[in-house]
Amino acid sequence: MEVVIAPADQLARLAADAVEALLRGKPDAVLGLATGSSPLKVYDELVRRHEAGLSFARARAFMLDEYVGLPAEHPERYRNVIEKEIASRVDFEPGAVEGPDGLADDLVAACAAYEAAIADAGGVDLQILGIGTDGHIAFNEPGSSLASRTRIKTLTRQTREDNARFFGGSVDDVPRHCLTQGLATIMSARHLVLLATGKAKAEAVHQLVEGPVSAMWPASVMQLHPHATVLVDDAAASRL
Ligand code: GLP
Repeated sequence: MEVVIAPADQLARLAADAVEALLRGKPDAVLGLATGSSPLKVYDELVRRHEAGLSFARARAFMLDEYVGLPAEHPERYRNVIEKEIASRVDFEPGAVEGPDGLADDLVAACAAYEAAIADAGGVDLQILGIGTDGHIAFNEPGSSLASRTRIKTLTRQTREDNARFFGGSVDDVPRHCLTQGLATIMSARHLVLLATGKAKAEAVHQLVEGPVSAMWPASVMQLHPHATVLVDDAAASRL
C-alpha cells in the first residue's frame, strides 16, 4: 500500500494523474467512480484535463453504490450526483456510466445484474474511493463480509447522520437502505485510489493503514490489495 500525505489540491492532482495515465495508455479503460465530497476536487481536475484534450469517449465507468428508493429526479440520487459532478462534464458516451439500480422492483436481481455488467466490461481498471468516518468504503458498513459482492445493505445511524448534510440536515430524509458493490467487488479492481481529508477521517485512515484487517473497519481490506494508493492530507493522517 502506497500512502501519500499532501495538501488536498495536490492529492486531487495525483489521483487525476493516475486516471490520465490510464486513459492515455488504454482509452477504453473502465473507471470506478465514487460519490461523497472526497473525490470532488479530482473530478474538477479531470474536467480541466478534459478541456485540455483528455478524452473519456471510449471509456466506461461503474459507480460504487446507490440509495434504495430515491425518486429518479432526486438530486441526491447517486446516479444524478455522478452525472452532475463528472459524467456530464466530460465526453463519456451516453450509457457509458452505470450504477446499481436502486429503483428496481427486484433489488436482488439488480445487484446480480450489476456484478455481471462489471464482469462483462472486463472489470474496473482504476477505482476511486472515499472513506466513511466509520471506515466504510462504498456503503460497506462495519461488519461487512470481506468476501461480499454487490448487495442490499442497511445504512448505519452514523452514516445517515454523516450524510444528512446532503438532505437538508435531516437524518430522517436519508434513505435507510442502499445497493453497494461488495468489498470483494471493490478488491477486484486493478488499482484502488482512496482519498481522505480532514480530522474526522483520522481514525478510519489509521485503521485502514495500520489496523488489523477486519470487517469492523471495512477499508482495512485494502491492505490485501496489490496496488492500493491512499491519498491523505495532514489532518486525515494525524493518527498515522
Ligand atoms: C458515502 C459514500 C462513500 C463515501 C463516503 C464518504 O457514504 N457511499 O462512497 O466514501 O460517503 O463521504 P465523504 O467523501 O463526503 O466524506
